[in-house]
Amino acid sequence: MDELLKWRGEFPILDRATYMISNSLGAMPRRVYNEVRAYADSWAERGVRAWEEGWWDMAVGVGDRIAPLIGAGRGEISLHQNVTLTQAVISSCFDFRGPRNKVVMVELEFPSIQYFYHEQRRLGIRVEVVPTPDHIRIDLDKLLAAIDETTLLVPISQVLFRSSSIVDARAIIERAHRVGAHVILDVFQAAGSIPVDVRSMGVDFAVGGVLKWLCGGPGVAYLYVREDLRAKLRPALTGWMAHRRPFAFETGAIDPRDDSFRYLNGTPHIPALYACQPGLDIVNKVGIGAIRDKSMRMTARLIDGARTRSWSVNTPESPAERAGTDSVERPHAYEVCRELLARDIIVDYRPKAGVRVSPHFYNREDECDFTLAQMEEILKTGAWEKHAAATTHA
Ligand SMILES: Cc1ncc(COP(=O)(O)O)c(C=O)c1O
Repeated sequence: MDELLKWRGEFPILDRATYMISNSLGAMPRRVYNEVRAYADSWAERGVRAWEEGWWDMAVGVGDRIAPLIGAGRGEISLHQNVTLTQAVISSCFDFRGPRNKVVMVELEFPSIQYFYHEQRRLGIRVEVVPTPDHIRIDLDKLLAAIDETTLLVPISQVLFRSSSIVDARAIIERAHRVGAHVILDVFQAAGSIPVDVRSMGVDFAVGGVLKWLCGGPGVAYLYVREDLRAKLRPALTGWMAHRRPFAFETGAIDPRDDSFRYLNGTPHIPALYACQPGLDIVNKVGIGAIRDKSMRMTARLIDGARTRSWSVNTPESPAERAGTDSVERPHAYEVCRELLARDIIVDYRPKAGVRVSPHFYNREDECDFTLAQMEEILKTGAWEKHAAATTHA
């Protein structure tokens, strides 16, 4: 008996679809309806008083529900609209005009982060992108060698979005600290899927969002800053939420707080901060240990099923190296994905990855078999062909 299936009733979409895409957008808990209503009620009934009755503190307070999932403590997280913005806040703490001006990242880093740092070259940043041998793993030795005395920041994902490969974050942090560089660990694809412990890793910063494995919906990203750095660094991307006396409306330069509010800037995204809470509560209750155990079983089952059909998988074979997604590579993978979606089997397609299948704790193991069986049927019957005309992907 799979104990975790008792949570299925909390997620309405599971009655209507085979939902295998939690690496992209986790299923919505039905309690989100109540939270969004609570937000509307507080605005409608309390009006502007809602700020002092709770809204003002939410961009740090709600972070306490994320903290246990990444090994952080209370008050150690600030919340932002997306991960790209958290990178902007972090990088704005540093001066790239001196000799230590390099940002090292890997080719498999999430593209938005690459776009952001490349544009910062106008501020003096030198970007070194370390090539990877394939689309599955990073070249750890090459990455470690690229981190040198001129390196200021190393933004790196703990789990790669394309292949779900787990990166040796400890080795990267150790190397970076040895030469005086800072690591920004993106745990977006890790939190809620595998155990994450930012404090024990000693990482400088950790960032991520809640909309995937944490079932928290779009609009909330988290930023953890290590305790000893928190009050020392000073973001240039700042605003009145970070001021010690925001309601004094003092003019001129900011007098910044020393706690996690220091990393905030303008008015926060209150509706999203309400909507994210049911998912976080559920994932905390289910527990990462149970989620990881089941995830390893399901991803192994998907890999076995793909191998039996002689399909290749762009995901590491070893469970220790693999997080929650299997990327199944097939000819016509894009069209197969479109047909799966038409059949209410929700997966996605990414170039150089294939069809990404991401079961979560609420999935039944037979849904893994069903997804592969449907892919096989779509290929055999040529049902994918009707999507070929619409194909824009190479
Ligand atoms: C590892 C990783 N980082 C970042 C992002 C997204 O960044 P943002 O929150 O800026 O949209 C994703 C989204 O898919 C991701 O997988």
